[in-house]
Amino acid sequence: MMKKENNKITDEKLIRLARDVSVNSYSPHSRFRVGAAILTEDNKVFTGTNVEFDSFSLTICAERAALFSAVSSGYRKFSKIAIAVSTNEIKYPCGLCRQALAEFSPDMTVILSYGKKICKIKLNKLIPLLFKLDRNKR
Ligand code: THU
Repeated sequence: MMKKENNKITDEKLIRLARDVSVNSYSPHSRFRVGAAILTEDNKVFTGTNVEFDSFSLTICAERAALFSAVSSGYRKFSKIAIAVSTNEIKYPCGLCRQALAEFSPDMTVILSYGKKICKIKLNKLIPLLFKLDRNKR
């Protein structure tokens, strides 16, 4: 889902959008709701939630749901992503999501919202040695 904004999106607003969308999480198996809101470099927000299936491996994380939504709408450069969970312990994004996000914007800021707390960390710190193909050599 895309949200168009003229005003600059604050971190607080991005976190609010991630928290709000987490209510749409479809997680009958884990009962673990995750919401994500990704901010494009030109200030547009796309959101996503985790979606689970009886065929477990089909499950998609909230971060990639938000990323795929943005990329499907033509956006490829991102400055931030907010990820919201309701647990009191910090939850970092999984390895698959780190790789997927970093292939587009390795320098983006990751904002983790857990319980009432917030942690901000650079994606390139979460995935320092990124696998990336050199497109010029193919
Ligand atoms: N999940 C996410 O949405 N993001 C992550 O980074 C890790 C895990 C979801 C997948 C699954 O629906 C549930 O959390 C439990 O693993």
